[in-house]
Amino acid sequence: MHHPAGSGIHHRITDLREQIEYHNHRYHVLDDPEIPDQDYDQMLRELERLELEHPEYARSSSPANRIGAYPSRGFSTVTHATPMKSLGNAFNRQEIQDFNRRVRELIHSDHPVEYIAEPKFDGLAVSLRYEKGWLVQAATRGDGTQGENITQNMRAVLKDMTLLQNDSVPDELEVRGEVIMLRQDFNDLNEAQKRSGQKPFANPRNAAAGSLRQLDPSITASRPLRMFCYALGEVSRDRKFKTHGESLEWLQSVGLPVSDQIETVQGFEGCLEYYEKMLANRDDCPFEMDGVVYKVARLDWQAQLGFTAKAPRWAIAYKFPAQEATTQVEAIDIQVGRTGAITPVARLVPVFVGGVTVSNATLHNRSEIQRLDIRVGDFVIVRRAGDVIPEVVSVIKSKRPANTAAYAFPGKCPVCGSKIVYQGEEVIARCSGGLYCHAQKVRSIIHFASRKAMDIEGLGEKIVEQMVTEGLVDSIADLYRLDANTLSRLDGKAEKSANNLVDAIDKSRKTTLARFIFALGIPQVGETTADVLADAFADLDHLMNASEERLIAVPDVGPIVSRDITAFFDQTHNREVIRDLLELGIEFPGKEPVFEMPQWSESAEPGSPFLNKTVVLTGTLSIPRDRAKSMLKQAGARVTSSVSKRTDYVIAGEQAGTKADKAKSMGVPLLDEDRFFHMLGHRE
Ligand code: IVH
Repeated sequence: MHHPAGSGIHHRITDLREQIEYHNHRYHVLDDPEIPDQDYDQMLRELERLELEHPEYARSSSPANRIGAYPSRGFSTVTHATPMKSLGNAFNRQEIQDFNRRVRELIHSDHPVEYIAEPKFDGLAVSLRYEKGWLVQAATRGDGTQGENITQNMRAVLKDMTLLQNDSVPDELEVRGEVIMLRQDFNDLNEAQKRSGQKPFANPRNAAAGSLRQLDPSITASRPLRMFCYALGEVSRDRKFKTHGESLEWLQSVGLPVSDQIETVQGFEGCLEYYEKMLANRDDCPFEMDGVVYKVARLDWQAQLGFTAKAPRWAIAYKFPAQEATTQVEAIDIQVGRTGAITPVARLVPVFVGGVTVSNATLHNRSEIQRLDIRVGDFVIVRRAGDVIPEVVSVIKSKRPANTAAYAFPGKCPVCGSKIVYQGEEVIARCSGGLYCHAQKVRSIIHFASRKAMDIEGLGEKIVEQMVTEGLVDSIADLYRLDANTLSRLDGKAEKSANNLVDAIDKSRKTTLARFIFALGIPQVGETTADVLADAFADLDHLMNASEERLIAVPDVGPIVSRDITAFFDQTHNREVIRDLLELGIEFPGKEPVFEMPQWSESAEPGSPFLNKTVVLTGTLSIPRDRAKSMLKQAGARVTSSVSKRTDYVIAGEQAGTKADKAKSMGVPLLDEDRFFHMLGHRE
């Protein structure tokens, strides 16, 4: 950016300092940051650069020279025995390479340097002081020199680790680490906050900070906080340890919590490998990481390298791509899904976040809009974590433009004008138009034709939209009444592609019962449930006439799903469409029902570890999912889609997400792919 000389720069510097102070206060004192860390870092970097380039404007009081914020009122102040410094940040390989080169130059090493690679926990730093094994003081980092005295609160977090009973514990011990909240605990806490009408926390870090910095320690005690230790303080840097790794092992041996994701790596290459691995596992990790940290393993080298004013020269953080970014709301739209579910969506000025460009974010439902008070024109923080749909985390109220209006949630479907009705606890809004609603019609036809349903190639969103608008197709059955002649009337449909589409539709007539059930788009009936239903009933008529009780007896089908299924088949309209489809030549080979059979596969080898086990597959496996499923069925397992108390195993492939988390939290055994194949007795 070009800045005019002189007062323009001074102005910018003052402006940056003011903004940074404001955000420091929100982050460190109020535990309620308003902007993503990334935006803050950018401002700080700009200020640092300007002060370097224009030393005449540099001030010792500038936030560029300070770590964090001054301690807030309410807690007494603690002066750290040794300052709690920050870490330098790297955002790309080059910066890691530069770091590694500097380290090698300073210690005159011709060999790859050994590093201890650790997760960068996204929580808040604390320093613990033990005397004769007793926790005597705990403090937040504060400004690095002085922090807040949170001893009582940390006692509540550390519980039996308040007293270390190990002969090797020195009289004076200082330990540093991070207090965090596990993702699952954070979600549960937020649910509870919402239920009791309290403000939910924006992310696990805020929840951890907000919970730890309570003046009433009993509140802290009621919150699910954890600590991971990552360093010894100066006091206890005993000569008996040669490496940082040894000191971590010792911490663990006296009963303090150390992450099991810490590894020893060799040189730049080892650093990169660790980064890639941790980044790939980011969404599976039970706690949030905002990067990884490398520390020179040898303590004598650490001493030799020393510190700059702000950070050690022997360590660096390699940050992950930010999962949050700021952007502006251009519009708030309503989407109508296949089953009429109404989802408000924020249309955004495109922004790069979590590795992709995001221009839409879900606003979930009406009460979420009310909670956020989001308005067109607002600046918002969007979050895109893993492959989860991007969402709006919060509105930056201090940046709200003048003359915005609160968003009024519509009472009528914006597509068909039917009344919007509410289900459940008034959270889920639905268009009551059913298949009268253009949007629902289009969505249900697209679903019907999709790859895992009837698999009609070439029947995409655009052409379905055209067909319905032009009146060529009014229900899924109409697809089988189309001819190439009629189709070629559509805009841009050449004769050849019209013929191809008719062929593809024709080909889809031969299908399986499972695909057909899935294709019908019964609410809550996904691919796996459709499979289970097809297996259990083997006959469409039996399924259509099944009672709720009978349906509930099917594995993977609960009372809610069974009600949706019976409600679907109770509608005359749906029965008519099914009758039409069968008359138009849809057919599936008959099968013997397996429902109510005592064993799931008679052919399963005796002694198969999967015999009669309920198994859930998640993540990406090296073989197709369907293949894994049939192997499991062969081995006598039933494969279901959701993790519950009744699940025996969860098989987690690469990038397994919430299901793996859920399994962990419920204590359901997780199998990785190797283990799975091993148990199957296959070695593929
Ligand atoms: S070591 C002198 N190790 O990152 C070095 N810090 O940006 C002190 N953090 O204040 C820090 N995980 O809150 C270290 N494995 C880790 C860490 C870690 C998270 C935090 C810590 C620190 C901040 C620096």
